[in-house]
Amino acid sequence: MLKTHNCGELRPKDDGMQVVMAGWVHRRRDQGGVIFIDLRDRWGITQIVVNQETAPQAHQTASEVRNEYVIQVKGVVRVRPEGTANPELETGEIEVAAQELEILNRAKTPPFYINKNEKIDEVVRMKYRYLDLRRPQMQRNIVLRHKIVKFIRDYLDERGFVEIETPILFKTTPEGARDFLVPSRLLPGHFYALPQSPQQLKQLLMVAGYERYFQIARCFRDEDLRGDRQPEFTQLDLEMSFVEREDVMDLIEGLMTELTIKVAGKTPRFMPFPRLKYYDALDRYGSDKPDLRYDIEAVDVTDIAGKSAFPVFVNNAAEGKPVRVLRAPGMARELSGTALRRVTEELEQMAKAEGARGLAWMALPANESDEVKGPIGKFFTVEQKAELFERLGAEPGDLLLFMSDTREVVWAVTDRLRRHIAERLGLADPEQIAFCWVIDFPMFHWNEEEQRWDPSQHMFTLPVPEDIPLLDTDPGKARGSQYDLVCNGYEVAGGSIRIHDRAIQEKIFPLIGQTMERAREQFGHMLEAFEYGTPPHGGIASGIDRLAMVLAGEPNIREVIAFPKTQSGADIMAHAPSVPEPSQLEELHIRVVLEPEKKPQP
Ligand code: AMO
Ligand code: AMP
Repeated sequence: MLKTHNCGELRPKDDGMQVVMAGWVHRRRDQGGVIFIDLRDRWGITQIVVNQETAPQAHQTASEVRNEYVIQVKGVVRVRPEGTANPELETGEIEVAAQELEILNRAKTPPFYINKNEKIDEVVRMKYRYLDLRRPQMQRNIVLRHKIVKFIRDYLDERGFVEIETPILFKTTPEGARDFLVPSRLLPGHFYALPQSPQQLKQLLMVAGYERYFQIARCFRDEDLRGDRQPEFTQLDLEMSFVEREDVMDLIEGLMTELTIKVAGKTPRFMPFPRLKYYDALDRYGSDKPDLRYDIEAVDVTDIAGKSAFPVFVNNAAEGKPVRVLRAPGMARELSGTALRRVTEELEQMAKAEGARGLAWMALPANESDEVKGPIGKFFTVEQKAELFERLGAEPGDLLLFMSDTREVVWAVTDRLRRHIAERLGLADPEQIAFCWVIDFPMFHWNEEEQRWDPSQHMFTLPVPEDIPLLDTDPGKARGSQYDLVCNGYEVAGGSIRIHDRAIQEKIFPLIGQTMERAREQFGHMLEAFEYGTPPHGGIASGIDRLAMVLAGEPNIREVIAFPKTQSGADIMAHAPSVPEPSQLEELHIRVVLEPEKKPQP
């Protein structure tokens, strides 16, 4: 080894020890006769002191080094003089007095500061990702991710799970996105599809009798990217035999709780995790992945508002449309008349962008004797207002936002305003972790265009047992056995109990517009396998990238992926995707036909 110690480990107890260290120059301060170098490696930073009198050769070399040079130092550990310790560094009580110093490799000036935590242009970060990954914050994130995966592997191994790899070159496994295709050279005109998840194969492993399977699996989905989505990502994929919904949920809840506490060093806000029914989640939070770090929720006041004198609410209530209120705690307190108008106009524009016709509001005075402000106060009697405030738990200074429309529009507005208010009031603390389960999803959503039901998870999800008869009578009312795990407003896992009974599977296909023939073409291998003794089974998959992102308190999954793609699905460091050699295409019997405007730019 070219080093005896790393840059994070020396302490006062090592005083007087002879050491060899190597790493990158994080910072250099030249004070004439003495040069200080902050030497950095993955484990930390150690201060090196190079003295012209005691080590003239080393001092000469040290005067040449620049940031990010790779150097090796031989020297002696010593406790720093009284009053010069650096409490920001774990090694801040010691320094290493250099005897010899060697430059192992020089460095060009990096395109951004590695030793400062400042905003860097995303394009530059991605182009020089290897330098971006050198930054201590990125190193922390990447190491945290490693620890998460290791913890998961150990946790599941202790509970009898086996990790089994499944192929990447496979056949379509639809999870609602487009497939990535890979042409076959040996079978011209044929293509593999990269798996959107190992869903089919893990179910086949249950038929094969493994009972407890897991995999840290790469998944590929060709879909539009967002902050929490990448075209290739990693799942903890898991499947169990002879289980019911509770068994899978218990296992994952235990795993996630321990991960949060032991690996991320945080405490989940709720233990056990709350369980929300799908429609309750939408009514209260406007989303099936609500952020429960804050308590703002929509409260139904249709009964009170329907009796008011405000025509919009009276008419909507009569038509069965809800009136719901979001209470923004204290948001009106600091605002003057004009500021209040500006803020409520901005909120109304947001509501309108979600399809609402308007957004009524009441501002509660900070001073009890003042009047309630807002356009609709006059339509409510004193008693009605008292009843409203009581139900909402309203306090002086609160801003109450009234939404009334179809339930779908009210959900969309609730979600948008809830997030906005939380951001404005600083309620979404990245250090907090709030998990919840969402259950009782509808089995299907009606697809108006195609005039058929679409599975709300996938076609192998079993209805909850008591809803199976509804498949024949009222499929829209049938609830699936699906469960989603949500953390801080992100869906971090989803799964279900599967159909293992052919008679039920055969009912599902026609409902989702699949003929049995087409199903056989696509999933014949599964349907056939299911005829050879299939155990009842179910499972779940958790997005490791999203999980690592929330546990690291980061806003984007790119912060926890070593080499992510940009928003347009490209790797701008290595230039992927790229145009292949003509001979490669020829071998695959592929001809690329592009309209002129789609011709690749050099
Ligand atoms: P699902 O499609 O819900 O379920 O995926 C499971 C979890 O994977 C994560 N995820 C993603 N992460 C990053 N980028 C993406 N593009 C992306 N897409 C999904 C999410 C999600 O909760 N086979 C089923 C699981 C099962 O039924 O067992 C499945 O893949 O965190
Ligand atoms: P108007 O009587 O149209 O001036 O509306 C009075 C207030 O009610 C305004 O603040 C509107 O934004 C609001 N409003 C109108 N329609 C709705 C609706 N469907 N839901 C909530 N607020 C509304």
